[in-house]
Amino acid sequence: MSFTGLRSIVLCLGLLAVPALAADMSTAPYLAAAPEKPTLLQMLASALKPKSAHPAVPEYRPRLRQAAAKRRPKASAPIVTEEPVASPTTVGAAVAAPAQLSEVELAAKGLELFNDASLSGGGKASCATCHFSTGHTNNKTYVGLDVVADGDPNGRNTPTLWGVGERAVFGWAGQAPTLEDSIRGIIVNRMKGPEPSPETLAALVAYVRTLNYPANWQVKEDGTPREDASAAVRRGYELYIGDGGCGTCHQLPSFDKKSKDDIGTGGKFKVPTLHAAASTAPYFHDGRTASLRDAVKLMWEFYAKKMETRLPTEAELDDLTAYVGAL
Ligand code: HEC
Ligand code: HEC
Repeated sequence: MSFTGLRSIVLCLGLLAVPALAADMSTAPYLAAAPEKPTLLQMLASALKPKSAHPAVPEYRPRLRQAAAKRRPKASAPIVTEEPVASPTTVGAAVAAPAQLSEVELAAKGLELFNDASLSGGGKASCATCHFSTGHTNNKTYVGLDVVADGDPNGRNTPTLWGVGERAVFGWAGQAPTLEDSIRGIIVNRMKGPEPSPETLAALVAYVRTLNYPANWQVKEDGTPREDASAAVRRGYELYIGDGGCGTCHQLPSFDKKSKDDIGTGGKFKVPTLHAAASTAPYFHDGRTASLRDAVKLMWEFYAKKMETRLPTEAELDDLTAYVGAL
């Protein structure tokens, strides 16, 4: 085996050893003397769970498996190749901890900026005006900073920012390829604010990346219903992946798709995620549909027409709505 290969393994083992190492160190004298200080393990845990930057919303469930899996290649590759050889006991703490903690600090700064109206022209609005401090939607439809009637063809309904770090493209039309582009566009175009500095953008991005979906007791991470989910939710799931055709576009487990589609709502729009849909009314880019059931009905009718398949019964619509509402 090559030296580099061996070194990677040693470094990986070093990283794997960190929790055990931290557990050992929690009994070390300097930590015992200051019990109110977080242990290394807690610090690492909070770095890996950035939601702790805003403890006001403790009910969020970290959907970290997916997010971490997506980030891992970027994050770990340079660590393994660029770090000098070090003993396996120090490398984990020295490499992983400071980088992760500064991400948390950045997110805390981002939360401040998220509530800062000076980002907009004339100090008229902050991000939280439309997304609340928690990042969820205020359920309104806007042109610029003006609230318009739901269904206005120029209007855009405020999306939730929960789970935004997992999305592939941003904006209803998928117009922004990255979170940085999306947020910069909103500040400059929608909020008519001054050009944001790279630091401001980085902090806002770090904050919104910490926003997770709420805990879900009916549906598992992979999108399948839990054993104790209601019968309606379980029947709804079968329709979702079966006759309703929903799963072909709103793909499990993220429930979105990178590509855009024209579903007859006035143009091509990205396939939005359906997570938390129960609380994101009104629906579609322009907020044309007030109830989730009507949104589900519109979608099935579109699919049935496109594929020349059958329409749902009223009971099936109830079941499918129960499943989508449980996501
Ligand atoms: C006037 C209300 C309003 C304000 C203020 C606002 N947003 Fe939004 N936000 C929206 C709307 C509406 C959209 C959808 C825009 C579109 O599709 O063109 C959106 C979209 C987004 C998206 C893309 C989400 C996705 O899933 O595609 C992000 C990220 C975002 N906003 C973050 C922010 C941040 C950060 C701020 C503060 C700098 C902010 N927003 C300020 C209403 C607002
Ligand atoms: C051909 C791909 C496609 C299929 C199949 C499809 N959808 Fe959609 N769906 C979309 C697109 C694109 C949008 C966004 C359109 C817009 O914003 O105007 C959307 C939007 C939605 C919304 C609104 C989400 C929100 O946040 O406002 C719901 C709910 C929804 N779909 C549910 C379903 C259900 C349930 C099914 C199965 C009956 C389904 N979709 C089938 C592409 C699809």
